[in-house]
Amino acid sequence: MAETDEAAPPTDQLGTMDLTTDTSLNHAFSDRVLIRSIVGRPDGGAGLAGKRVRVGGWVKTGREQAKGTLAFLELNDGSCPANLQAVVDAGVAVPKKLVAMGTCVVVDGILKIPPPPPQKQGTKQRPQRIELGVEKVLHIGEVADPAKYPIPKRNPTLEYLRDHLHLRSRTNTIAAIARIRNALAFATHSFFQEHHFLYVHTPIITTSDCEGAGEMFQVTTLINEADKNPNPQAKQLGIPKKKDGKIDYTKDFFARQAYLTVSGQLQVETYACGLSNVYTFGPTFRAEHSHTSRHLAEFWMVEPEIAFAELNDAMNCAEAYVKYLCKWLLDKCLDDLQFMDDKTCVDRLRMVAETPFVRISYTEAVKILEESGQRFEHRVEWGIYLASEHERYLTEVQFQKPVIVYNYPKGIKAFYMRLNDDLETVAAMDVLVPKVGELIGGSQREERYEVIRERILEMGLPLEPYEWYLDLRRYGTVKHCGFGLGFERMILFATGIDNIRDVIPFPRYPGRADL
Ligand code: 4AD
Ligand code: MG
Repeated sequence: MAETDEAAPPTDQLGTMDLTTDTSLNHAFSDRVLIRSIVGRPDGGAGLAGKRVRVGGWVKTGREQAKGTLAFLELNDGSCPANLQAVVDAGVAVPKKLVAMGTCVVVDGILKIPPPPPQKQGTKQRPQRIELGVEKVLHIGEVADPAKYPIPKRNPTLEYLRDHLHLRSRTNTIAAIARIRNALAFATHSFFQEHHFLYVHTPIITTSDCEGAGEMFQVTTLINEADKNPNPQAKQLGIPKKKDGKIDYTKDFFARQAYLTVSGQLQVETYACGLSNVYTFGPTFRAEHSHTSRHLAEFWMVEPEIAFAELNDAMNCAEAYVKYLCKWLLDKCLDDLQFMDDKTCVDRLRMVAETPFVRISYTEAVKILEESGQRFEHRVEWGIYLASEHERYLTEVQFQKPVIVYNYPKGIKAFYMRLNDDLETVAAMDVLVPKVGELIGGSQREERYEVIRERILEMGLPLEPYEWYLDLRRYGTVKHCGFGLGFERMILFATGIDNIRDVIPFPRYPGRADL
């Protein structure tokens, strides 16, 4: 069962096992075949009847016909949403308890067409096209005490599962989300690689605040060191201080203040201004105290950066990328999408894949909101941040499709966005989608040295930490633009799941960082 670097040579532990050499079945560097390659076929696996296979999985449901004689196990190995039914006949030696939910089993057997199920009125379940007649049980990972198995049999809520992160991947919904997340990551690389963007790894530890919003987690070893050498006499931890009483960060690990990145944009710009088209895709961190269903303290962002390009190019790229992701999921993950509670998600993906996005300026958006007759919690007037309720009104009620809002007031956007000729707005754009609101934030970058220098000062930021960023404008400046797509927000949009904490394997938010 151990993973190896190479595909294992065909085993003949089963004598006539013909499937180890059958390339239509995926062994995934293991001596078992993936359940997906059996039940995921267009014929539901029926064409494999008579073949011998070894499968492994966890029991979803199990029942014994008569104690110790005949057992039926619904096995799932996570390779697809569907289970494979394994039938253990009376003659098969079973050393331990098999049927408890969560039990891990590896079995050899012969695939068979199951007998037609008794016709029950009102049941919509698709009949199984294939089942496994078990000949030999090779491994049982017993559930120590089935009464204490933390995952309940019937519909555990997603909230409940958040308290059991280490076991929740065994549930249907979390497994489906994991497969969709994986597909979106693959699609992301596929889209940008097809368009000749270079994947750049930007740092996780940074000394620049990209968004200038001061929501950064600090990275320091001063506290651990002070804790290691406690001085019970001193009232305070022994953290090195300067004469003015402030912490002396020259004594810290990086000899200066360092943080977890809020965005890889500033660093990826350095590669765009040399390699043209680049993207970064990695974790980002924000110490926002927002307890909303759309914010995480650790989330993943996809950030392309395009040289020789303007705001309109960024909008075109963002629209093409989101459409590509939607099509990819419809192509490759339909079974998982159909499994979601939100039965509108497939139609939503189709609509987004096929419909041109609406594009309106911020000024037009504010006018629409003001004239909507809608009562919003946050007052609407030119110059405000658009709140989630405003964004969702535009995309869900007014247009019922994705909307790109562009040219925002400069006062509410970051220093690096290009100042428009009206001197009031910047070339920013946000992509808003139904269900989520803001999915993407981006802009054309200010490429003019004097203008960006002025903007940094105007926003009360110090110049020194941005000197390297200014160098990109001093030496061979180029028009460029880019955006950031919140990866978890894309998964929310695709799956219709309500809370962002359920679409990342290990959610981090105020008060919680389990595992
Ligand atoms: O709009 P934001 O803050 O843009 C940037 O960080 C730019 N530097 C991106 C760029 O131009 N390269 O964040 C981008 C996206 C948002 O639109 C949202 O989808 C997501 O990141 N996002 C979050 N997702 C989850 N939790 C949070 N706390 C998020 N904050 C932003
Ligand atoms: Mg934003």
